[in-house]
Amino acid sequence: MKDINIDVAISNLETEGFLKVDIDPALDLVAAINRLKKEKNAVLLAHYYQDSEIQDIADYIGDSLGLAQQAEKTSADMIVFAGVHFMAETAKILNPHKKVLLPDLKAGCSLADSAPTEAFKYFREKHPDHIVISYINCTAEIKALSDIICTSSNAQKIVESLPLEQKIIFAPDRNLGAYLIKKTGRDMLLWNGACMVHEIFSLEKITKLKIRHPKAKLISHPECEDQILRISDYIGSTTALLNYTQNDNAQEYIVATETGILHQMQLASPNKLFIPGPPTNHCACNDCPHMKLNTLEKLYLCMEYEMPEINIEEKTMIAARKPIERMLEISKRYGL
Ligand code: 13P
Ligand code: SF4
Repeated sequence: MKDINIDVAISNLETEGFLKVDIDPALDLVAAINRLKKEKNAVLLAHYYQDSEIQDIADYIGDSLGLAQQAEKTSADMIVFAGVHFMAETAKILNPHKKVLLPDLKAGCSLADSAPTEAFKYFREKHPDHIVISYINCTAEIKALSDIICTSSNAQKIVESLPLEQKIIFAPDRNLGAYLIKKTGRDMLLWNGACMVHEIFSLEKITKLKIRHPKAKLISHPECEDQILRISDYIGSTTALLNYTQNDNAQEYIVATETGILHQMQLASPNKLFIPGPPTNHCACNDCPHMKLNTLEKLYLCMEYEMPEINIEEKTMIAARKPIERMLEISKRYGL
């Protein structure tokens, strides 16, 4: 531990969500992070929605399922999560005895926020004959109240793995839920949550873009609204979208998901054109404000001082582990 006033640092953490310590401007952050990874036997897991400079130094970059699978099998002593809070919580639930760090504790998720524990508990109790499938984008408390967790990569398979007569609650994403109802023909009860990033793609602007780029394919994440999904050429998780652009022979794509994924798409297919799907606000692209709270500086500081750390109440952790393990087991069965 370096010589900092730890009380000041901790009180800062509580209000700011990240460690506020001056960094020598001459410090090579990438080299320092790589050194800390080795020294502390730490693994750096990053979601595709992180800034490209963070993706470039990660040990593993992936979607929510890939990241959970990596967290489950890592032999590192410390997991540094460049993503949002629910992802780091999932890593902690799978590794209760390891230190799990998140560079900024305020990196939350509008979907997770849309399912408050008490309201969800009440909803669940009103439907005791339903199984609860929760999208991984939810808090540890909601996971603890769920029967199976899913991600956008395995949601369809998980719904289809249940007997036809089984009644299902799907939470918290109403858009993904509605998409799954369409795909599987199952009549699920949906929680009314949504992702602030995927909800605001503009049908009008995308339609205009398609006119200007008639050969471009529209590829979308299933968290998008039905009006966008209906006109999409391909729908899938971030990993599925990336794979699609690598294997498909089109040269231009309009990408209706968070912009971070464009970095890997461009690296994998340098000669193709990737156009970020435009939102209804004044921006040209769609950034997740939570994901983008992580920076190289915060990443370095959290690894150096080993905080902020993810801690979850033991009872919640034990209850939340079962539905996550069920998801990982079903995913393995289907080779996902
Ligand atoms: P996937 O990682 O499953 O593609 O989900 C995207 C997302 O919104 C993560 O927050
Ligand atoms: Fe949550 Fe949406 Fe951001 Fe993903 S992109 S972390 S679902 S707010």
